Amino acid sequence: MFDKNFLWGTASSSYQIEGAFTEDGKGVSIWDTFSNKPGNIAHNENGNEACDHYHRYREDIALMKSLSIQAYRFSISWTRIFPDGIVKDSDGNVHFNQAGLDFYDNIVNCCLENGIEPFITLYHWDLPQALEDNGGWLNRQTAYIFADYAEFICEHFSDRVVNIATINEPQIISGLGYMNGLHAPGKKLDCISVLSVIHHLALAHGLAVTRMRAVAKQPIKTGFSSTGDLCFPASECDEDIDAARAESFKIVTGNMTFNHTIFCDMTCLGRYPDIVGTGLHLEKGLEKIGHYKELPFVKDGDSELMHQPIDFLGINVYNGHEVSVTGHIKKKPGSPRTALGWPVTPGVMNYGIRYMYERYNLPIYIFEDGLACNDIISLDGKVHDSNRIDFLTRYLTDLEKAYKAGVPILGYFHWSFTDNFEWHSGYDPRFGLVFVDYETQQRIPKDSAYWYSDLIRQSCN
Ligand code: BGC
Repeated sequence: MFDKNFLWGTASSSYQIEGAFTEDGKGVSIWDTFSNKPGNIAHNENGNEACDHYHRYREDIALMKSLSIQAYRFSISWTRIFPDGIVKDSDGNVHFNQAGLDFYDNIVNCCLENGIEPFITLYHWDLPQALEDNGGWLNRQTAYIFADYAEFICEHFSDRVVNIATINEPQIISGLGYMNGLHAPGKKLDCISVLSVIHHLALAHGLAVTRMRAVAKQPIKTGFSSTGDLCFPASECDEDIDAARAESFKIVTGNMTFNHTIFCDMTCLGRYPDIVGTGLHLEKGLEKIGHYKELPFVKDGDSELMHQPIDFLGINVYNGHEVSVTGHIKKKPGSPRTALGWPVTPGVMNYGIRYMYERYNLPIYIFEDGLACNDIISLDGKVHDSNRIDFLTRYLTDLEKAYKAGVPILGYFHWSFTDNFEWHSGYDPRFGLVFVDYETQQRIPKDSAYWYSDLIRQSCN
């Protein structure tokens, strides 16, 4: 079992659940633009209404409480507070949208009233469109504006909120947003440009950490959430364990961004990625990269700015690869997969997480884990998602092995509390513990929600 102080939570993000996309002075984000353009999202769906969390947050948080959930990880929509992204005018005066700020004050206060610990993520992909029009993450200036935003949020909320993470999954922002174009802003750029996006995100993170610490009303805890391929060994023999570790931190040709190394090495180790001579294959062809330090967007001192002490590493983990000393183990036909086709590989929760701790030496939160199922409301009016319970049992059993082996895992946040807008896949993949009927916005806790609730209650006793 996990200790009593282990934190059990659920996670969400603003664009995926809030809806109310033009309400109360909110500005346009890249996801508003992208998902309202025909052809970008499955069935041409969008997040305009989503789960209507903007109007139903009280009901949602009350439901979390009734299920004994201890922590709620949510993200702030930058454009609700700063509609065009800009925080300070040229004279240094801050202009913000009061209604947007009120919304997050209400969420935070509502969590606290219900005994739920709020975990803020500053940026879960919904960049202000006005900043994108100015180059988005290709523009170094965005990192400095992000730091202004982080400072403002921290100064305002840190009287009540201790945990404030900077950026969610820089790997997906750069890979899907700027490399293969599946996500907003839908760009398909060359290798150097994509690396510049990652670089500016790392800079944004580092600058934000420094600025937040300077204004925090109490000592905050900060970090970011990372994702990428992780491996686990086919057996307990040392050769397999070493092989899986080595594979976990490779930057792979063809999928350059989907690894922890590329971002975490810069921000947690102060080390630029080792990509010298790598032929990183992108849509636009194969490019040979020289020394990272000589790339045009790197400035003297950047490494120090990015590499700030942080309090935790958030890991988002859904699956991994089985590896032996002879290489990757091919999946057998018919091996278990989720509704999105992602392999079910609990072993990643044990060894993958150990490898992350060995390399980065930081306390860990599992900030996301979960699966998409084709959930339906049965004739009895309930949602019987036994697959999710089975998945969770397996994944948490393996996570417990890493925990017992001494990895400081502080908590687990299930992705997600409710079903929601699954980016370019729209609403079909259901990730929630709670079913959402999008016609009526009715919430129906699935069997897994009650199972998770029991698990939390047992862990606390
Ligand atoms: C993201 C979530 C997403 C989930 C499932 C993570 O990459 O942070 O926003 O819904 O995975 O795809």
